[in-house]
Amino acid sequence: MRDHPIHLAIFASGSGSNALRIIKYFSASLKFKIALIISNNKNAGVLAHAPEHQIPHFFWPKNQLSNSEKTLELLNNFQIDGIILAGFLAKIPEYLVNVYQDKILNIHPALLPAFGGIGMHGMYVHQAVSQAAVSVTGPTMHVVNEDYDAGRIIFQCRVPIAPKTSADEIAQQVLRYEHKFYPYIIERYFRHFCSKSDK
Ligand code: GRF
Repeated sequence: MRDHPIHLAIFASGSGSNALRIIKYFSASLKFKIALIISNNKNAGVLAHAPEHQIPHFFWPKNQLSNSEKTLELLNNFQIDGIILAGFLAKIPEYLVNVYQDKILNIHPALLPAFGGIGMHGMYVHQAVSQAAVSVTGPTMHVVNEDYDAGRIIFQCRVPIAPKTSADEIAQQVLRYEHKFYPYIIERYFRHFCSKSDK
């Protein structure tokens, strides 16, 4: 049995609304700790939220992320068990996927494998969904492997969309479900995963 909480790191690049939900969800948890925040964007919302929650946070640009020694040292210093991507707009290097095999989760704002892959992020996804005039979209939560948006899917939920809904409206609707489910799915995934691997 573990005698310390599961330490998670959040990687985020954008406004950080999912990151903030995750931070708040686990703030009183005895089993989980958001132990580190990393962003490749100096102006990311998540870096602004981190101090008030007293979470160590680092601006970590691409050249740092591709430096395996430095990045693993940072993650080891904070005893990171798992990594949560929440709007992180950089490819996770292969060394990290290997070291954290099955322990990196991502959220994608469409029903993968549809509307995924290189270049499909943020509003590009919702614009494509709107143009394709599909009747349903929704967030996907998946394990990260070496290919974009291609790891094992652990959760999806269907969000019906009315004809002619704009990309902005679709984004808002999907984001509501991301906020509602991502923290809970993270908890469920890592609780199960870590208790199994600790036996
Ligand atoms: C979300 O839509 C998420 O699905 C995608 O990036 C967006 C991040 O939004 N990967 P926020 O920064 O959490 O507000």
